[in-house]
Amino acid sequence: MNDIFDGLTSVINGGNIKALKTPCYVIDEKKLVKNAVILSSVISHTGCKILLAQKAFSNYDFYPLISGFISGTEASGLYEARLGKEEMPEGEVHVFCAAYRDDEFDELLSYADHIVFNSINQLKKFGAVAKQHGKSVGLRINPECSTQEGHEIYDPCAVGSRLGVTRNVWDKEMTPDLFELLDGIHFHTLCEQGSDALEITLKAVEEKFGDVLPKMKWINMGGGHHITKEDYDVELLERLIISAKEKWGVEVYLEPGEAVAINAGYLLTRVLDVVENSDVKIAILDSSAACHMPDVIEMPYTPPLMNACADKTKAFRFRLAGPTCLSGDVIGDYSFDSEIATGDLLVFGDMAIYTTCKNNTFNGMPLPDIYSLKPDGTFEKLTDFGYKDFKNRLGKPE
Ligand SMILES: Cc1ncc(COP(=O)(O)O)c(C=O)c1O
Repeated sequence: MNDIFDGLTSVINGGNIKALKTPCYVIDEKKLVKNAVILSSVISHTGCKILLAQKAFSNYDFYPLISGFISGTEASGLYEARLGKEEMPEGEVHVFCAAYRDDEFDELLSYADHIVFNSINQLKKFGAVAKQHGKSVGLRINPECSTQEGHEIYDPCAVGSRLGVTRNVWDKEMTPDLFELLDGIHFHTLCEQGSDALEITLKAVEEKFGDVLPKMKWINMGGGHHITKEDYDVELLERLIISAKEKWGVEVYLEPGEAVAINAGYLLTRVLDVVENSDVKIAILDSSAACHMPDVIEMPYTPPLMNACADKTKAFRFRLAGPTCLSGDVIGDYSFDSEIATGDLLVFGDMAIYTTCKNNTFNGMPLPDIYSLKPDGTFEKLTDFGYKDFKNRLGKPE
């Protein structure tokens, strides 16, 4: 846990962090590069390609910092594809969307290098035109192999999932002319998992689609690989990539989001008030779980907090909660070495992923400003937000 905040300790001691208006996100350049170096070593050991899944992290000011280490970007639709093309133009742009729109497809073709379809209907509708425009065409398969428990909304292999073509559907709907269009197979089944789960998944992929893979140019193994986490077995990942390349004669792509920016950001917030209910002391913060860290509620999980424990091991216990009307706008229960009070600065860790690209202005909450933490310990403000950002999403722009 301490390691998550090591980039900030000296900065906080230096004092200049206290001048930042809260709430704000701070993206740590040194941590981003640390992650990128690990990903780059997987690329050089295996010859695979690794893309940034922009759904997790799309703070494009940092793309120049990481683009030299990775192979490009992955997009979930038109806007992310355009962002990837504009902001990391030297990299490949891959797109997967559960269903593409007629009125966007032409523009999408102008940004994407790889287009992955989610169904054989979509391949039939758009595959030939994508091919005519020189795109590499893929189909997402569903190997029906769940390797995670407890997070059904993050499990594309859950029964009844709309994501990916099962072998049963493939056998019913695939025709030789559609098969001809295919350059690659895509699967995404993991969420914050180790390479052991990938190994299990690859066995299922081989069992179900082993006849198809040698006819492909590439396989994309999706995201959810926690490659840059301390305990991740990188050697096993590398063996699996090399084995897939050799066995099926394919190029291998991975498209992690979290692994690119894990532990590379902080959310700084201040205590606005402390209230009590049934012996629980509740600190109300100027940031909200619902608005500024929605995965805390959606997943759910308790984010790391600097100088505090997400359990009862320290003497002073507080529930940390947001200022919105939602009763469940609770970040978590923490313990501290001393009392916390109105005005105190708190620092949440691992706040670069699924935050800045997923936040919202529910209750008219302001969006936090975004800063970069430079390697020399200084901060640069990248953007800030105001009333117009709230209002312009709701009606006629001012
Ligand atoms: C198709 C696809 N690729 C990549 C990712 C990135 O996953 P992660 O950020 O967990 O690595 C996701 C996440 O939902 C996804 O759906």
